Amino acid sequence: MQTLAQTLKQQATSDSLTQLIFTLAETSKAISKAVRHGALAGLLGATEQENVQGETQKKLDIITNDMLKGALKGDNSVHGLASEEEDDVVAVNQGGEYLVCFDPLDGSSNIDINSLVGTIFSVLPAVEGELTEQSFLQSGRNQVAAGYVLYGPSTMLALTTGHGVQLYTLHPETDEFLLTDANMSIPKDTAEFAINMSNQRFWEAPMQTYIADLLLGKIGPREKAFNMRWIAAMVGDVHRVLSRGGIFTYPTDNKNPLKPYKLRLMYEANPMALLVEQAGGKASTGYENILDIDPQEIHQRVAVILGSANEVDTCLSYHDIDYSEEPSL
Ligand code: F6P
Ligand code: MN
Repeated sequence: MQTLAQTLKQQATSDSLTQLIFTLAETSKAISKAVRHGALAGLLGATEQENVQGETQKKLDIITNDMLKGALKGDNSVHGLASEEEDDVVAVNQGGEYLVCFDPLDGSSNIDINSLVGTIFSVLPAVEGELTEQSFLQSGRNQVAAGYVLYGPSTMLALTTGHGVQLYTLHPETDEFLLTDANMSIPKDTAEFAINMSNQRFWEAPMQTYIADLLLGKIGPREKAFNMRWIAAMVGDVHRVLSRGGIFTYPTDNKNPLKPYKLRLMYEANPMALLVEQAGGKASTGYENILDIDPQEIHQRVAVILGSANEVDTCLSYHDIDYSEEPSL
């Protein structure tokens, strides 16, 4: 089986990007070990601290953030970093070519129940001048690499550098990422959806109507029985979509009018959108392609609808309807 190094070489990846991908991959191996030790190392549970988004930080959120920050600071290809667990962007090396945005441990509420968690990352080109938040505010189309590492029954790395999506599995004995799927491809059609149904009453009309039609199954307008899956970690849900298709959404809701969206653009939506597009799927907010968003702030949140191309298109068609009209009798 081909190694990560061999695949990157075959794709003619530059030395500096290869170096950065290795920094991320090597750190993820250490994170995988830490996650696996769990309760044995006293790593489960929450801390007293909150991150900038007002979420209580788990011990492993902080540990994994420090691991990635430390490793990226030691990599001279990195100009700056931004993390879900850092209030502000962090300057790293003056001459570095890349900016790295990451969610060190996505789905961290799954840690305490020994369920799926993962690291999500996005690599952008550095811009001239002093590093500021503005340096990071580039469209997702600018990403030179994006991926995630899933810490599950096996540890897997899904990666794109713009040549499709490659999936690697970490060999437990040799500790090497080996290529187990050279070209992940999302089927165009699906009968599986992922959404947090407990928020149903808070969604906008298009999502209410779309999901209601899915739930009607064969007797509804879709004339098809749909199944539902919800892992409660985006990284796990997106991995399923990349592996066998499906639609995943965390839509706009009015549960808290000050926070209409859940997922973060720069280190959740953008990297996942690039992976999904590179695997033949689609990713939208309902009104705009995620990769076309012009970011306004580093911790910005967005609505996300992604997955099998035809199903995303169907969901988007519900967003074109004017729901303010009275239904005709
Ligand atoms: O990072 C945010 C996140 O943990 C995602 O990974 C996941 O999709 C979502 O929140 C789960 O939120 P909930 O199940 O609480 O709606
Ligand atoms: Mn997350």
